Amino acid sequence: MQDVLRSMLFVPGDSEKKMAKGSGNPADALILDLEDSVSAERLPFARGLVNDYLKSHTDRDRQQVWVRINPLSSPFSLPDLAAVVSGAPDGILLPKTYSAQEVITLDHYLSALEQREGVPPGSTRILTVATETPQGVLTLATYTGCSPRLAGLTWGAEDLAAAIGASTNRDENGEYALTYRLARSLCLLAAQSAGVQALDTLTADFRDTELLRREVRAARREGFTGKLAIHPDQVVPINEGFTPDADELAHAQEVVDAFAAAPGAGTLQLHGKMIDKPHLTQAMRVLARRR
Ligand code: COA
Ligand code: MG
Repeated sequence: MQDVLRSMLFVPGDSEKKMAKGSGNPADALILDLEDSVSAERLPFARGLVNDYLKSHTDRDRQQVWVRINPLSSPFSLPDLAAVVSGAPDGILLPKTYSAQEVITLDHYLSALEQREGVPPGSTRILTVATETPQGVLTLATYTGCSPRLAGLTWGAEDLAAAIGASTNRDENGEYALTYRLARSLCLLAAQSAGVQALDTLTADFRDTELLRREVRAARREGFTGKLAIHPDQVVPINEGFTPDADELAHAQEVVDAFAAAPGAGTLQLHGKMIDKPHLTQAMRVLARRR
């Protein structure tokens, strides 16, 4: 099983057809959605479908299966959880979080449900959409050390704009306005501070592959290691963009070898450039993402 999830593809939890399509897709993980893409009337049906999918897809080496539940503050979240934990999802995506306190609460719910269902204790991971409420953005620092289940943080701009009462999250050039760029940066810092994966938000314009590739490159330069997808065609560009290529791997290996060959050295030169501890750390991270 891969530690770093490059791509996570959302699949509406009430669509058997899209689930089948998702299972054949190269996404590192599917996120079967019980929240925004499922209507309230279809939710009970979707819970059953998601549980059936989990129980019939138990080999998760190639592709993990996660479930997005409804916000913990809603009356739907506990029934969502009670319906899916018996299928041993690899993790739960928690939307519209207010603070890490909700991750701690979810951790406790999962511990109880894992016990009831005979699922290995602690095996269900947690990822949160950490910037969908103003409180969520202002409490991002609380994620550090909150739960061993926490696997990553991602951010979202759509619900945050709605929560703030903004008419749009874009500036006059079509870029994210400062508030959303701030939320994105803070999410990245909070994830690194917590020692978990930072995943970039989705690109809604799913026909624009060039835009997607640009966003993946930008996210990766900044330290994100994966990205959410909403359409199957987005997954290959995302996987490619987050997989280190041969040149990067070769360079990282050179850095590691140089330090291995000079025990005790804090700083060295490689091809006429100074390298020190941060370069070694970065090189080891690149090698860890080798496929
Ligand atoms: N997962 C799996 N399969 C998907 C998919 C997804 N997220 N999105 C589309 N597909 C399938 C379609 O069913 C279609 O299958 P077919 O060729 O067998 O008919 C194929 O991929 C091509 O889809 P396309 O016609 O290009 O798009 P669409 O109009 O069917 O769907 C969306 C567009 C946006 C409705 C769809 O991509 C979707 O449901 N995305 C996920 C939405 C979601 O989960 N949102 C919550 C997170 S914000
Ligand atoms: Mg949403």
